[in-house]
Amino acid sequence: MIEFRTMNSEKKRILILGANGFIGSSLVWKLLKETDYEITGVDLSDNKLGCVLGRERFEFFKMDAIKNKADIEEAVKNSDVVLPLIAVATPALYVKDPVRVYNLDFESNVDVIRMCLKHKKRVVFPSTSEVYGMCPDEAFDEYSSTLVLGPIEKERWIYSCIKQMLDRLIWAYGNHEGLQFTLFRPFNFIGPRLDDIRATKEGSSRVITQFAHNILNGKPIKLVNGGLQKRCFTYIDDGVECIVKIIQNKDGCADGRIFNIGNPDEEHSVKELAEVLVESFRQYPDYAALAEKAVIETVSGDEYYGAGYQDAQRRVPSIGQAKNILGWTPKTDFKTSIKKILDYHLLGKDDEACL
Ligand code: UGA
Repeated sequence: MIEFRTMNSEKKRILILGANGFIGSSLVWKLLKETDYEITGVDLSDNKLGCVLGRERFEFFKMDAIKNKADIEEAVKNSDVVLPLIAVATPALYVKDPVRVYNLDFESNVDVIRMCLKHKKRVVFPSTSEVYGMCPDEAFDEYSSTLVLGPIEKERWIYSCIKQMLDRLIWAYGNHEGLQFTLFRPFNFIGPRLDDIRATKEGSSRVITQFAHNILNGKPIKLVNGGLQKRCFTYIDDGVECIVKIIQNKDGCADGRIFNIGNPDEEHSVKELAEVLVESFRQYPDYAALAEKAVIETVSGDEYYGAGYQDAQRRVPSIGQAKNILGWTPKTDFKTSIKKILDYHLLGKDDEACL
């Protein structure tokens, strides 16, 4: 059984399961920087936590949360707010290994949600922009947009469906059994620690890291179905700033609510992303030659991901809830986000390096 360091009992304690993930690691850093909370983190590895490991208000347990349920229950009991961030969130895997996605994303999170209910702990749960699926609305609204998924053979939607079910379960526990909760929906968060840029397997990363990886390694950039589909890219630092406000929950303003977190002003097609990335590489003298050699080609979704793939053509968040209730707006534009990501990978500059 894990033993917790005695921290200051006056202070709020936040439990982050999946603390070494993309959102988790940035959130730990931001919480340490901007609040006086004490944080417990759990993850299988700690490679993204270099700048926060060993900090006084951060206690980290390197372990498998799925295999150590009793420990996780103890950690839940010892905290005030729980963020279950453990999930597979890579579209290639939704198609290639949907059962693994189900087991991890659904089964293990249901257990944690039930622990929160049992021990009366507040849960702040990551839903996803993917729940809206192929919704035709100009901008997706948390309370009025429909959630539109494809047929069962289109396995890509398993992640969306799992997250929707968890949203509905948490909502039901909240309304019928007293669970204190907030759901948040990230819209294409991007940042330096998103995926491993050195990973070689095609489709193992989200689009921005995949494209940067391909440029770096002289491989063609592949636009799935022509790359006209659009996403609203949101810089991680803006995203976690909103999550911090949700955790702070001033006067209970976030209780029982859903928040889209995204940057509606930065809607760009995948093709445009490829072009901007190549152009951005030109600005780094040591890498400009790679930009000159970059090749952009088109590939079908079936070829790239498999027959179970289907895509959302547009995905724009309405962020009125986050603006009006939390007082949050995104600040970082697309080109600045890309510069920060490339500065990290190509020059080793890291905004999260010093606290
Ligand atoms: C992502 C993932 O499902 C989750 O990480 C997350 O919940 C959600 O969106 C989000 O961040 O809001 P998606 O936007 O499709 O889904 O993620 P990417 O893998 O980054 O793909 C974006 C677009 O680029 C897709 O249309 C995809 O087909 C395209 N793509 C991807 C390419 O054209 N080429 C590639 O090499 C990779």
